[in-house]
Amino acid sequence: MTHEALLALLHDLSLEEKVGQLCQIDMSSFLADSGSPTGPMAQYHLTREQIISVGSLICGGNADAEEFAKVHETIRQESKHGIPPLIMSDVIHGMRTIFPIPLATACAFDEDMVEESASVAAREAAASGIHVTFAPMADVARDPRWGRCMESAGEAPALCGAMAAATVRGFRGSSLKDDAAVATCCKHFAGYGLVEAGREYAPVDVSRTELYNTYFPPFRQALDAGCDMIMPAFTPIDRIPAVANRWLLKTLLRDTWQWKGSVISDWGATCELINHHMAADLKEASLLAFEAGLDMDMMSFAFIGQLKALVEEGAISMEALDQAVLRILMLKNNLGLFEKPAKQESRSVQQAVCHDPAHREAARRAALKSCVLLRNEHHLLPLKAGCKVALCGDHAKSHALLGAWSAAGDTAETPSLYDVFEGAGCVQLCAAEEADVILYATGEVQDETGECASKAYPMLTPAQRDELIRLKHMGKPVVMVLFCGRPMVLGDVVDSCDALLNAWFPGSEGAEAIRMLLMGEENPSGHLSMTMPRSLGQVPIHHDQLSSGRPFNPQAAGFDTRYRDESNDPLYPFGFGLSYTTFQIDEIQSDDELTEASPAHVVVRVSNTGERSGSTVVQLYAHMRHVRQMAPLRTLIDWQRVSLEPGESVAIEFTLELSQLTMYDAEGQALIPQGVCDLSAGESAAAPWNAQILVK
Ligand code: BGC
Repeated sequence: MTHEALLALLHDLSLEEKVGQLCQIDMSSFLADSGSPTGPMAQYHLTREQIISVGSLICGGNADAEEFAKVHETIRQESKHGIPPLIMSDVIHGMRTIFPIPLATACAFDEDMVEESASVAAREAAASGIHVTFAPMADVARDPRWGRCMESAGEAPALCGAMAAATVRGFRGSSLKDDAAVATCCKHFAGYGLVEAGREYAPVDVSRTELYNTYFPPFRQALDAGCDMIMPAFTPIDRIPAVANRWLLKTLLRDTWQWKGSVISDWGATCELINHHMAADLKEASLLAFEAGLDMDMMSFAFIGQLKALVEEGAISMEALDQAVLRILMLKNNLGLFEKPAKQESRSVQQAVCHDPAHREAARRAALKSCVLLRNEHHLLPLKAGCKVALCGDHAKSHALLGAWSAAGDTAETPSLYDVFEGAGCVQLCAAEEADVILYATGEVQDETGECASKAYPMLTPAQRDELIRLKHMGKPVVMVLFCGRPMVLGDVVDSCDALLNAWFPGSEGAEAIRMLLMGEENPSGHLSMTMPRSLGQVPIHHDQLSSGRPFNPQAAGFDTRYRDESNDPLYPFGFGLSYTTFQIDEIQSDDELTEASPAHVVVRVSNTGERSGSTVVQLYAHMRHVRQMAPLRTLIDWQRVSLEPGESVAIEFTLELSQLTMYDAEGQALIPQGVCDLSAGESAAAPWNAQILVK
């Protein structure tokens, strides 16, 4: 449809139809098998007309292309203009084929892989009738108590931004009109990861300087990559919940960033303004949110019942309403929905696409790169083929390896560790007493992670810990395979295992990937996307902590920044990950100077000094010595994955731009960096400084 035709459509819509376009209700209660409206009419006192004219429907993992086609047909027949609803769903790390959780895929430091994963997810979601995914989550996560760490790319803004952008590219493909394309909605704008004490839905108190430097950049990258929608967080900025925060949604997003996409609330967030005591009722809540810049109301039943009266009374202008509606119509038009409401309508095609073996292959490749080998004493791993292995622990036979937000993922199609070891016959499975090696598979239950899964004790349970210690006392080498949706606080329990593979929730092909890594058929190459704390008291802990006026000085026991009873160091630093080979990073050479006009080149030599081929992630960190604000002691700037044969050595080059070193003040103004910048190229955030550059 041309833009003129879209405008003509808009102007032909009644007030009720326009309001409808700004509402999202639940698909499952909308339709019975026949495709006629049911549930909410009784439940929420909505009229048939209201339901038929909704702008969007949210669905869970049970998406069904044929059912959705009936919905489109009902709407086409029964409503005056037959505008297809946007069908939206949380396709976070796969649709039917489930990839490792985003916190895990970030450990691959591989944008191409994340883009490929998202494009597989898009193919399956589009074939299932979904138009828009509520992804990527661009929140920076630094507190393992927060269950939603699993949906984030972790603690580093640069990594979160790169992964969010790759996700957007993967879902959208080259054109939203393509049959395999899905539009994106980045979330939760912004600072949600800062919930007080890691407690879900708790308040957030964050400075604007911190927002500009840490929490906004990943969203900027997602939007710059073409993200279509944005979802304000449940949490506040300056005590105003994001959904009603005019500064955030209008001043910043529209006026400063000039962003043209549409804003959808989080589930029920508009009506939560009542719980925040900011609005007396749904009408006031709707007005506050709409005036602040909200376009579409998800599952609050606020806009759907209130906007009409607000427009009729003049509290909301028709012009403002039209702008919001136009943004929604434009997205539908970009998706080609006016010509073809569903990208495909056949259940059997949906099933075939969702079971494409190439998708499982992609999920396996992603899992192979996402697991992080954290410990490997005396080269216990890889296991020797044919050795006697006792596979035990609460996750040994578990199929629940998908993690939270696993859409249509099916644990029945997810082999357990036991299944794959038994199937491959690569080792002799036996009882612990007879074993050469004990494989202890343990960790979190997948439902203990994700939304509303905050934990005061993000660690092994006492029973899991006792079992590990008991196994260790058997005097045999113990390999722990840890399943989790956040960095677990392991403390000294880590000493009870000889090797530790952090597998996160690795998805549909996770067990096979783990088996291949343990057997050395593949070499681990994941590097932590979040720091692993030594103890809970260190939380939140991350590699880019700001300077202290009293820096830690190991030689002095004075009044410097430290704990009385704990080291400042994490158990494993950000970016850390072992391989079955070793790498050396040296000969760092950089240009002497960096200016806005001429980026600097940093050349690093990486050598495989071991006896196996393998991959590592060379990470570039920077520290500006002089800035007119407190600055991080180090910040991840860039990275490259490098694969090398034994004895092979390559020079890799980073191009360092001034923008990568730029910091922002409380007004969002750039503080142009000047002076000496220390650089570190290494395999984790603990690598030493090894170059300097003068920024002019
Ligand atoms: C979550 C969002 C999600 C939405 C829709 C909310 O509770 O915070 O991340 O997209 O539900 O399922």
